[in-house]
Amino acid sequence: MIQDFYQQYSRYYDVIANDRDFSAQTRLIRNRLNTNEGQKKVLELFAGPAYHGIEFQSGHNDYVAAIESSPHMKHLAEDKGFGSPGEYYIGSIPTDLKQFSENTFDCILGLRYSIGYLSRENLYEMLRQCKRLIKASGKVFLEVHDISAITGNLTNDSIRDRKKTTDSDEEINCIWPDGAIQWDNLDYKASMNVSLTIEREQEKVEKSFVSIENIYCAKEVIFLANLIGFSSALPQFEGNDKQVWFNEFKSSIIIELFL
Ligand SMILES: C[S@@+](CC[C@H](N)C(=O)[O-])C[C@H]1O[C@@H](n2cnc3c(N)ncnc32)[C@H](O)[C@@H]1O
Repeated sequence: MIQDFYQQYSRYYDVIANDRDFSAQTRLIRNRLNTNEGQKKVLELFAGPAYHGIEFQSGHNDYVAAIESSPHMKHLAEDKGFGSPGEYYIGSIPTDLKQFSENTFDCILGLRYSIGYLSRENLYEMLRQCKRLIKASGKVFLEVHDISAITGNLTNDSIRDRKKTTDSDEEINCIWPDGAIQWDNLDYKASMNVSLTIEREQEKVEKSFVSIENIYCAKEVIFLANLIGFSSALPQFEGNDKQVWFNEFKSSIIIELFL
């Protein structure tokens, strides 16, 4: 299963996922907060290597609480510079969000389609927890697939088929999805084969994983969030810098939620 990728192969996840301008993405998100002055308290859900959390810490001296189920990802994040001010928690979303105090965060992040790892019930519970944890002036940012991209089978090859060379000269090729997406009969649940090839001197390692993801569309998440009491905005579709948002978050939709 894909959890093996996030555990034993987390180092390779980083090689292929470190393909965005996290500094620019973080700046865009931070500029949407009600005020960008002063230290912010950020909660990074499904943190993985904490790409965005590290930018909040190092670029803006913000406090970041990161939460993630894989201890390997925590080590990776620490190696990449996650530290202070902040804390990296190992836990499962939504259950382990209960440990945080209400009305604490200026900004909550759930980026890179990660809410797709939650059932609809758990997504609803996560949103309820976000409402409890966010300050009245705070904002939640969730990233979901652009439906037109995913129904085109992610034909954008720069995302589907990634080739990289590691610092130790390993050639990495990750294809996600590798082959046609298998769809569930009753839900927008996609089963995707993910192949990872690692070529080193005299050696070729081929691994395959299955990623089962719930494909939530922006409108569905907004509907659930509205039921809980959130209002919403879509920065890629409104405002002067919508084109900048589109350029920084390709094949994605960013949902902004606020009270
Ligand atoms: C697609 S990665 C995103 C990582 C990072 N945010 C990024 O932008 O690259 C999803 C991460 O969520 C973690 N994860 C999946 N389900 C989880 C859950 N229920 N609770 C906590 N972490 C989870 C995985 O281990 C993985 O590191």
